[in-house]
Amino acid sequence: MRYFPQVAVLTAGLWSAVAGKPLPPTQDPWYDQPANIASYAPGQTIRSRQLPNQLSPFLPISVTVSVASVHQFLFRTTDSLGNPVAAVNTLIQPQNADPSKLLAYALYYDSSNPACEPSYTLQPGSDPAGLPGIVFANTTLSSDSAFLAASLNQGWWIVTTDYEGLNADFSAGIISGQATLDGVRGALIEGPKLGLSKDARYAMWGYSGGSIAVNYAAELQPTYAPELNFVGAAAGGNIANLSSALGRVNKGPYAGLAFGSISGLSKAYPNVSEWLDRALLPEKKAEFDALASSCLVGELTQGFLKDIYSFFVKGEASFEEDAPQTVMRLAGQMGIHGTPKMPMYIYKPVNDEISPGADTDELVDTYCQGGATVEYTRDLIGGHGSLWLTGSANAMGWIADRLNGKPVSHPGSCTKQDVLLSALNPDMITYFGEELWTFLKWTLGGILGPL
Ligand SMILES: *[C@@H]1O[C@H](CO)[C@@H](O)[C@H](O)[C@H]1NC(C)=O
Ligand SMILES: *[C@@H]1O[C@H](CO)[C@@H](O)[C@H](O)[C@H]1NC(C)=O
Ligand SMILES: *[C@@H]1O[C@H](CO)[C@@H](O)[C@H](O)[C@H]1NC(C)=O
Repeated sequence: MRYFPQVAVLTAGLWSAVAGKPLPPTQDPWYDQPANIASYAPGQTIRSRQLPNQLSPFLPISVTVSVASVHQFLFRTTDSLGNPVAAVNTLIQPQNADPSKLLAYALYYDSSNPACEPSYTLQPGSDPAGLPGIVFANTTLSSDSAFLAASLNQGWWIVTTDYEGLNADFSAGIISGQATLDGVRGALIEGPKLGLSKDARYAMWGYSGGSIAVNYAAELQPTYAPELNFVGAAAGGNIANLSSALGRVNKGPYAGLAFGSISGLSKAYPNVSEWLDRALLPEKKAEFDALASSCLVGELTQGFLKDIYSFFVKGEASFEEDAPQTVMRLAGQMGIHGTPKMPMYIYKPVNDEISPGADTDELVDTYCQGGATVEYTRDLIGGHGSLWLTGSANAMGWIADRLNGKPVSHPGSCTKQDVLLSALNPDMITYFGEELWTFLKWTLGGILGPL
């Protein structure tokens, strides 16, 4: 049995206990990239700071996540065009930390606004408390930090990287992967000074937007960071083909993501920026910018059912131009940047409302033909939102096995499994801790049914 002693990290606290509000990244000089950035090695620290031992909760309630320490590092990475740039790591030491385990947790933040980067949103006080934290279109609430909290609950050290870079290049795969890898390099340099073992095992995990960090990092690792030796990577709700994802979300409940994505690509690629200036209808620019600069909650609520093509001079045909086509392939097509060497756990709903399940089937085939080790679980009933919860429980168990040093069952080969939503292994509830589980059940009860 792979049970861990439960350590309660969710403790009742008061928002008012937070001394002062943190400054958003664009107003905080700590985030400034130095002029001599090229003189730093990838992963090397430029500057650091220690924050209060508290994280923003994953929902706007009077609960904070208390941890042993929180450190942030501005470090050097490489952008989508190969230029040296800075990015930010948040390194979190849980209560009762196990020094032998480090998880690189790629939060889905899915926004092209730097104020939605986790180094800011994880700080208590960045988001309005109470109801406004849910309903304000500009809320920075990060629902994904639920599983970050659950991971801390295992005693794992966590590094979470602002993998979109300082400008928030949402959906740009190359910078996301490289910043994730340099984030791990950075954590392996700085962690041991704070108590992490220098021989710690390390793995990666990300869902949805987080898969953009994890899949590209796994593909790029053999060439970009060959010295790193991950025990595994779990990635779910994969955005395997950005171009087809854009078509799938359009006019649907997740349509808002398309605006942040196009805006993010335009920050990473000058030719997309030039195209956007030309292709966007002038009278729609203000609305486009507002949608593109929301954090996830605002993006989804304000972008609900919107037609992104209606914002463009030539409608859908604007997206057939060379600049968006070449860049969506280069930065948004998984499987073309290399074959992951680390074992992968991939979980995906067949009926994913954001990125078609078939695209991930194809991705897994590509990885497997290249000789990768992949455990692929497809959910036949659930959707993108429900698998986030049910699939994450099992992903976490897989990561726990890897961090415990248990070898994968089929090294060098691929296994595929189709499951039903109800196949959630109730044993996995143990991983979440009772408080978190109860809370998730309460918030997501409608999706989960009578569990
Ligand atoms: C967010 O929006 C609310 C309501 O429109 C407003 O009161 C608040 O000042 C805004 N906060 C930020 C940080 O812009
Ligand atoms: C990605 O999706 C686009 C749009 O549906 C499609 O034209 C393209 O062939 C897909 N790429 C791959 C590699 O499947
Ligand atoms: C846009 O820029 C990217 C990155 O430099 C490049 O790979 C791509 O070919 C460019 N597209 C066009 C149409 O020039």
